[in-house]
Amino acid sequence: MMSSDHTLIVRARTAFESAYVPYSEYRVGAAIETTDGSVYTGCNIENANYSNSLHAEEVAVAAAVKDGQDTFERIAVASAARDGVTPCGMCRQTLAEFADGSLKVLCDKGAEGVETYTLTELLPKTISEETLQNADGQ
Ligand code: THU
Ligand code: ZN
Repeated sequence: MMSSDHTLIVRARTAFESAYVPYSEYRVGAAIETTDGSVYTGCNIENANYSNSLHAEEVAVAAAVKDGQDTFERIAVASAARDGVTPCGMCRQTLAEFADGSLKVLCDKGAEGVETYTLTELLPKTISEETLQNADGQ
């Protein structure tokens, strides 16, 4: 069964409780819904070398893909700051690997509600398998 946008946001909020963020102290949670209505969650997991840090969205995508689920309808993203955080550029490209541009991206603005984007709005241009095929032999 498909859950409501609010339910997916609540799942993202719950996920950021598990964030490991000793460096930024900025907790992020993500909840991604597959076409069959399953939901996978992720949180950010930082590292002392900073650059190894995992983002909530990529952890959620990884959890789904390892379960054989790679077709997505919606993703909700929430931070403890309730600031409407959107997926960073890297995470947008990670989402584009599996989802088409119509993927709904729900961003938690707390009392101000939910800001909804499509993936195309957030990342109009992507690099894809097609890009690489078209460049074959160049
Ligand atoms: N972060 C995410 O988890 N997702 C994003 O797309 C934006 C940034 C995390 C990474 C780092 O742990 C913290 O937020 C501050 O950048
Ligand atoms: Zn990111």
